[in-house]
Amino acid sequence: MIGILTAGGDCPGLNAVIRGVVYRAHQAGRPCIGIRDGWKGLMENITVALDRDSVDDIMGLGGTILGTSRKDPYVHGDGIASIMPTIEDHGIEQVVVIGGEGTLASALKLFDEGLPVIGVPKTIDNDIAATDVTFGFHTAVQIATDAIDRLTTTAESHNRVILVEVMGRHAGWIAAYAGMASGADAVLVPEVPYDLDELVDLLARRHERGKNYSIVVVAEGAALPSDLDGPTLQRDAYGFERLGGISNILAPAIEARSGFETRVTVLGHVQRGGTPTAYDRILATRFGVAAADLAITNQTGLMVALRGDSIVPVSLEEACSRVRQLDPDIYRVVETFFG
Ligand code: F6P
Repeated sequence: MIGILTAGGDCPGLNAVIRGVVYRAHQAGRPCIGIRDGWKGLMENITVALDRDSVDDIMGLGGTILGTSRKDPYVHGDGIASIMPTIEDHGIEQVVVIGGEGTLASALKLFDEGLPVIGVPKTIDNDIAATDVTFGFHTAVQIATDAIDRLTTTAESHNRVILVEVMGRHAGWIAAYAGMASGADAVLVPEVPYDLDELVDLLARRHERGKNYSIVVVAEGAALPSDLDGPTLQRDAYGFERLGGISNILAPAIEARSGFETRVTVLGHVQRGGTPTAYDRILATRFGVAAADLAITNQTGLMVALRGDSIVPVSLEEACSRVRQLDPDIYRVVETFFG
């Protein structure tokens, strides 16, 4: 029996991965079982039957048919002991864990304690090491680019500066890619320090050359200048910090220093919702089939990854070794178009 779970924030393409695992496992005569709401389902024995019929029509569906949560066997339980009753109850031989950095870190710990796991890298933030890209990222970039295109015309009509805040907790991939695709006038990312006065000068120079509007893309994880107080961060039910809103602090400071009317749009969860792009459906499907192949051959402690055009297994250890931050070469290209 192959168990499948999706944990952490949802992400377009999760269902395509589930479908890929179930179909490939079926070909090899291996049954699958769905685990509800991430690790929570393993800790509380909440499962759902999964066969080809139940995953037939889910390719283009956003979210995850298995549900997700941030409940964690190490934060909210006692590691492998808190999930073993469910594993034994259903005769689960391998668990395909579809998750981001936190989920994969717990998968690695469970593997070290003896659980046969296979990881699939999931996050719109694209910040997982050892893979060239994660599924969901492409969809998020497209959604953000569409939104910025729309915000650009209204910014121009009203002579405004608009700060568009996108997701990106530790890394500025979405901000950089969506900023590049939409021709943003500045992009703030966690990896690159910036000076607010220099940003204001840049906007002023742009307006001096006859452009009376500007778009600044802000990654939610970008640092605030030291002279501005940060937002009071709230935590969700699992203690996970809720980011979002840094632009609401930056905007009045930019308006005060530049004299330009400055507005904010925080894109938030719209970036994670809805149907995945064709690229993400394909990547997610390839990841799902490759993860099933590893389960069928009982190769565990691994994560499927995209390297160049190939899907390859990498160690979970490597995948969890660091956050994959924005490539400086990408930022240099984005920066070329500032101002
Ligand atoms: O999965 C990563 C992410 O999209 C981050 O960029 C963001 O900070 C976080 O999820 C928000 O998740 P939620 O609000 O669902 O807890």
